[in-house]
Amino acid sequence: MCANFVLLLLAFAAAASAAPPKRSYAAHSSSSIKNLKSHIKNVVVLEMENRSLDNLLGGQTINGLENPINNGPFCNPYNLSDPSQGKVCSSAKDMDSILDDPDHTVTGNNIEFYGTFTPSNADIASGKLTPAQKGFVYEQLRYYGEDVNKTELARQVLNYYTEEQVPVLTSLVRNYLTFNHWHSDLPGPTAPNRAFVLSGTSAGHGTNDEDFDADKHGLTQRSIFQQLSETNRTWKNYYTDPAEQMVDAWFFDWTFTSGNQGLAVPLDNFYSDAASGKLPDFSFIEPSCCGQGTTSMHPTGLISDGETLIKNVYTALRASPHWNQTLFVLTFDETGGFHDHVPPPLAPRPDELTYIEEAPNGENYTFPFDRLGGRVPTLLISPWVAKGAVEQKGTNSDGETVSYSASSLLRTLGYLWDFEPFTPRVGGSASFDHLIQGSKRTDTPISLPEPKPFKNRFFALAQST
Ligand SMILES: *[C@@H]1O[C@H](CO)[C@@H](O)[C@H](O)[C@H]1NC(C)=O
Ligand SMILES: *[C@@H]1O[C@H](CO)[C@@H](O)[C@H](O)[C@H]1NC(C)=O
Ligand SMILES: *[C@@H]1O[C@H](CO)[C@@H](O)[C@H](O)[C@H]1NC(C)=O
Ligand SMILES: *[C@@H]1O[C@H](CO)[C@@H](O)[C@H](O)[C@H]1NC(C)=O
Ligand SMILES: *[C@@H]1O[C@H](CO)[C@@H](O)[C@H](O)[C@H]1NC(C)=O
Repeated sequence: MCANFVLLLLAFAAAASAAPPKRSYAAHSSSSIKNLKSHIKNVVVLEMENRSLDNLLGGQTINGLENPINNGPFCNPYNLSDPSQGKVCSSAKDMDSILDDPDHTVTGNNIEFYGTFTPSNADIASGKLTPAQKGFVYEQLRYYGEDVNKTELARQVLNYYTEEQVPVLTSLVRNYLTFNHWHSDLPGPTAPNRAFVLSGTSAGHGTNDEDFDADKHGLTQRSIFQQLSETNRTWKNYYTDPAEQMVDAWFFDWTFTSGNQGLAVPLDNFYSDAASGKLPDFSFIEPSCCGQGTTSMHPTGLISDGETLIKNVYTALRASPHWNQTLFVLTFDETGGFHDHVPPPLAPRPDELTYIEEAPNGENYTFPFDRLGGRVPTLLISPWVAKGAVEQKGTNSDGETVSYSASSLLRTLGYLWDFEPFTPRVGGSASFDHLIQGSKRTDTPISLPEPKPFKNRFFALAQST
């Protein structure tokens, strides 16, 4: 009845406004879920590291993507409290990586978004304080300004890649579906965001603490891995580097107590499983992180090395007997301190937990997990998605228009594989079941362009390479 009501509303909206884009299904509706279940049997998630939408997809000229090339430039003051020191604006980038990894702690994100390390949570929750997204350059200078040329530092966080510099991503954007409003679930670092993707909460964690270590496996909440095993579905966690905190299934205590730690296997197995038609229902792929020679795109890892991994995974899936029934989700864990101009919205708290961090100014900040992080690049890649589509905001199951986030993945997988949202954050998020079309495309490219190693590989004057 609820779904019918939403359909009616949609029909009304369609009749009232001028030529809205045609959509066959409404998110969360039974017809959409039936369509999803009938076409998608294998889901493959590749989660890269630490890049914002404005940074990595900032030069994509496709219509509907809000980014520096389409809507910018976007500018930040050098000094938040002294405008007379001037400002610097986003422009196209010409290096493969940067040497000075931006601050992306919870309080680092605070100053980047709100201009203070310790904003009032009450003012944020009431809407009195909204993020201006002006503190990225200031924080990069505070972090590294003693040693590095400040113009160069500003460019590191504000600049973006052109279409020519990221040919693999450009081809994927033009051939598949890109989200314009997909946020990380936490304005903070890697491991807690990865926990959100797989379990709908970080269980109060706001930093990469020792609970995430493989030998500690200190997370006790239900994960997608436990959910699938308990309902006779198959999964594997394909990893590139078995180092601590680089195999996400090993965050979770259940993985060990149930004896399933061996379902995390080296990435080579992904390529052979894809070729032989033996992929599990759910494949979760992890790149290596974070220095030179790694594949995650995390600084100082090269963008071109990350593109090689994406191309290899795509090519393997495209040639696989599974391709006809596969949904490949390419996403990032967090923004890594890179500029993004779209303010992160509020979101339901996953649980009652809070996280306390001592800010660089010596004050303690208590984070209530009541809002999202910045936008990260996320694409749906499948013969079942529209070509060259840009998805705007989605709807939650109450019919409200909301931004997508990492929790949208679990919301949608719950429809595909019959499980309830693990947390209120997942329950309140937009699903994307309706983006699976009713007919299969036959024009999906067999391969992608070659990645482009840059002439100018690094961007910093402090250390020349
Ligand atoms: C910003 O400007 C204020 C006022 O001129 C100054 O006191 C402060 O040191 C500056 N901050 C930085 C990080 O340069
Ligand atoms: C800082 O870098 C900019 C851009 O590369 C350059 O024009 C400027 O001369 C440099 N300034 C100093 C003090 O080295
Ligand atoms: C999973 O499979 C086992 C063994 O065949 C069976 O006993 C159990 O009922 C199944 N569970 C579900 C949720 O289908
Ligand atoms: C996939 O679809 C294509 C064309 O639609 C068909 O030729 C092919 O046999 C299908 N492959 C599988 C494994 O179903
Ligand atoms: C911040 O919290 C820590 C840990 O609870 C405590 O030791 C410290 O004194 C607090 N600092 C301030 C400035 O309140």
